[in-house]
Amino acid sequence: MKVLAISGSLRAGSHNTSLLRAVAEVAPAGVEVELWDGLRDVPPYDQDADGVEPVPAAVASLREAVAGADAVLFATPEYNHSIPGVLKNALDWASRPHGAHSFTGKPVVVIGSSAGIFGAIWAQAELRKVLGAMGAHVLDLELPIAQAQEKLDADGDVIDEELRQKLADVLGALLAAAAAPELAAA
Ligand code: FNR
Repeated sequence: MKVLAISGSLRAGSHNTSLLRAVAEVAPAGVEVELWDGLRDVPPYDQDADGVEPVPAAVASLREAVAGADAVLFATPEYNHSIPGVLKNALDWASRPHGAHSFTGKPVVVIGSSAGIFGAIWAQAELRKVLGAMGAHVLDLELPIAQAQEKLDADGDVIDEELRQKLADVLGALLAAAAAPELAAA
């Protein structure tokens, strides 16, 4: 089983990226959690460039990574009560061709963290909305991680055991959905 992990933050010390690394650490044997690191290289979406070969390398990388994964896990920061523009931009590319792209029916889960007290809850809702519009199988759960700086140390390692368990639970739910694709159609 392979899970693609996508962080919405480009920041070197990103809490959201660290949380995805923590998920990889708690993954059960036989489950690979691969962090996609091409977000910075995705060009601005341009419908005139859409369908023109060759596809930009980072866009091809994203599409292939999603296609090769059984499920996708997002961790997003919140920018102005929504998702970072770079993440929405990449998803606009990934959503094409309409109805025939690699997110179609793909089990996805969204988590998110912020330095404040709300844990990127609005960004998570926005991201679920976008992924649902794209036709992904969006699991109806959220994990708002507030004041992330108190739950991770300076190296980005999770120091909050309750959080570590919640991350394992979220991964478990995603793996269960990926193992039972018939539920996605129900
Ligand atoms: C933020 N931040 C923020 N936080 C929040 O809870 N609600 C918000 O609307 C915003 N808006 C916002 C806008 C912009 C432009 C920036 C740069 C930041 C704070 C943000 O959530 C915080 O910096 C996160 O810790 C960033 O996540 P990473 O980079 O650590 O993963």
